Amino acid sequence: MSDTYEPIIVGFLCNWCSYRAADLAGTARLHYAPNMRPIRVMCSGRIDPQFVLKALREGADGVLIAGCHPGECHYVEGNIKALRRFILLRQMLRQLGIEDERVQLVWAAASEGIVLAAAVDRMTEQLRALGPLRWRDTVLNGAAEQRSNGVGEQGSKGAWEQRSRGETSSIAASPSSPPATEEARS
Ligand code: FES
Repeated sequence: MSDTYEPIIVGFLCNWCSYRAADLAGTARLHYAPNMRPIRVMCSGRIDPQFVLKALREGADGVLIAGCHPGECHYVEGNIKALRRFILLRQMLRQLGIEDERVQLVWAAASEGIVLAAAVDRMTEQLRALGPLRWRDTVLNGAAEQRSNGVGEQGSKGAWEQRSRGETSSIAASPSSPPATEEARS
């Protein structure tokens, strides 16, 4: 058995484009890193941020979200919703001490097996360089350390509110959308 660390990437792939891109990469016999565990969803807009957190908590070193290009979503604007959630999720993950490279978003059409394969290769290399996520140490113990250093709930809350007022205000002001679960049912 090899001692080399190999990251595990959970890939949430849209049924209509990115999952087919992965299929195409396979049938075209493209060589790319075998580190992604694909999960098919009907649309990238179906991906609840909790899916990503659950994957990271339960052992994934990174999560790749892949969907149709903007303007090509089969549910009109599911991928735009996915993008908004992704931006917010990244900000939250940064506060938990999780690097940006661990959660990525890529657009890959059904004909773009090469694009998807390249994204998996690139992410695998980045995660190899970062090493294992170690959720418990990074998130749970990291949070405990912050508290003992005096960056208590008040500090975190303040930073979060500051971000909400600034970078995310335009997102919050955009038209409201139904929850992801509702989209999937429709
Ligand atoms: Fe592919 Fe919405 S159907 S992202």
